[in-house]
Amino acid sequence: MPECESTQALLDPAMPEWAVATTDHQTAGRGRLGRRWVDAPGSSVLVSVLLKPPAGRNPAELTLVAGLAVAEVVERALSRAAQIKWPNDVLVDGRKVSGGLADLRDGAVVLGIGVNVNQSVLPETRLPAASLRTFDGRVRKIPPLLDDLLITLRSRYDVWRDRGLAALHGEIAARDVLRGRRVTVGGKTGIAVGIRPDGRLELDSGVVDSGEVTF
Ligand code: BTN
Repeated sequence: MPECESTQALLDPAMPEWAVATTDHQTAGRGRLGRRWVDAPGSSVLVSVLLKPPAGRNPAELTLVAGLAVAEVVERALSRAAQIKWPNDVLVDGRKVSGGLADLRDGAVVLGIGVNVNQSVLPETRLPAASLRTFDGRVRKIPPLLDDLLITLRSRYDVWRDRGLAALHGEIAARDVLRGRRVTVGGKTGIAVGIRPDGRLELDSGVVDSGEVTF
């Protein structure tokens, strides 16, 4: 659809798993922790998918699964490395190109992903932002990137569902931008040892389940 408030609001747990909502523009796009997610019309991948993880899987891990899928799509598109910033961002050269959001609803998860593709100027944000275009000047069509993302996400999700996050840990850890850095999260400061196979972030001063990391 050309425009909506937020693709997160278009999905309902009564729909089948893998129901997808996408749009060219959100008028009230949502980020994590009550923040806004702002896009210029036609400039971004804006997508939500409905997932129904089995009991025994921790849905909070899905932003890392999504982050891995986005990182792979961005790497293919740009031919350069992408990093995962625990728990939900994808960066290139230290600048955020994508964020993910997992909303729990009646045992289902609405997983939302925004990827900055064609913006030439990004709004000022806490973490410096970028689009694929700001790296190589290319304007891209959104649908092929969306297709690649959905196919990649599905294959990564299937591994996670069947074998758990530990089966994806090597690929996630290889892109962990926080490892070795001094970070602050949830009042704890320390050197990040890295993302653990259970999805938590290990610092030399303890382990954190969730939160907003500054580094
Ligand atoms: C974040 O980095 O804080 C998460 C951003 C998530 C943005 C996506 S865009 C598609 C979906 N719809 C929304 O309103 N938010 C997510």
